[in-house]
Amino acid sequence: MHLQVSNVCKSFGHGTQAKLVLDQVSFDLHGGEFLALVGSSGSGKSTVMRLIAGLDRPSSGSITLDARPVRSPGSDRGMVFQKYSLYPWLTAAQNVAFGMELQQRPRNEIRERTAYFLEVVGLADAARSLPRELSGGMQQRIAIARALAAEPKVLLLDEPFGALDIQIRESMQEFLHQLWRQTGLTALLITHDLEEALLLAGQVHIMAPSPGRIVRSVTVDLERSDMARLRVSSDFLQLREDLAQSLRSLEPAGRR
Ligand SMILES: Nc1ncnc2c1ncn2[C@@H]1O[C@H](COP(=O)(O)OP(=O)(O)O)[C@@H](O)[C@H]1O
Ligand SMILES: [Mg+2]
Repeated sequence: MHLQVSNVCKSFGHGTQAKLVLDQVSFDLHGGEFLALVGSSGSGKSTVMRLIAGLDRPSSGSITLDARPVRSPGSDRGMVFQKYSLYPWLTAAQNVAFGMELQQRPRNEIRERTAYFLEVVGLADAARSLPRELSGGMQQRIAIARALAAEPKVLLLDEPFGALDIQIRESMQEFLHQLWRQTGLTALLITHDLEEALLLAGQVHIMAPSPGRIVRSVTVDLERSDMARLRVSSDFLQLREDLAQSLRSLEPAGRR
């Protein structure tokens, strides 16, 4: 698996109204890696995600998945958004099965894979529940199960835990890390939360706004077996502080 984003620019509007939203964004993501794009609101993160998802096209530059240009949405990219991810009228199991039904997989395969992925995200007991009967964290786990069940080459997560309370967010970060280790999935996480990016990703690209661009890239090599300990370890806190400073220096003065 190789996702390649090369010199991508995106502007919205035309003529004098045109606004450059992404300026020469480039990065690579290979199979099994966990990559994060982190930046303040408005730095173009969701625009990058929409382009990779094939929901929109770059103004210039290219995006390829295994050397094939991305032109439209496809089941090789699994998406998880901040909210409104699940169909409220379907049960958890029906939500997980949904993408596989679009793929027209055989019935018994859908049934088996649904049970398996509900198990993977620890929600086998919630199979018959409706989304509104589940907590926000559970709903996002179902959304992740749904995305994974369709066997994407890459899981695209846009602020997946942004709407959750802090304790639930922390347990979801731990969950996502374990899932990544156990399943060997390839993930692209978009977040405004620097701590979240550093806890989860081996490669972190920091974006700045106006126009959205990558201003710093770091490889994060931390021992993650005990995430609670990692959160308060001096290595981690130092790295976070160092990068937080470079993020602050990029904010327009009025917003500091
Ligand atoms: N369809 C659109 N038309 C015009 N401007 C847009 C559109 N989508 C995004 N933008 C602008 O692009 C900038 C980046 O937005 P976005 O990618 O959502 O940032 P982020 O996800 O980092 O908060 C913002 O200034 C936003 O207003
Ligand atoms: Mg966004």
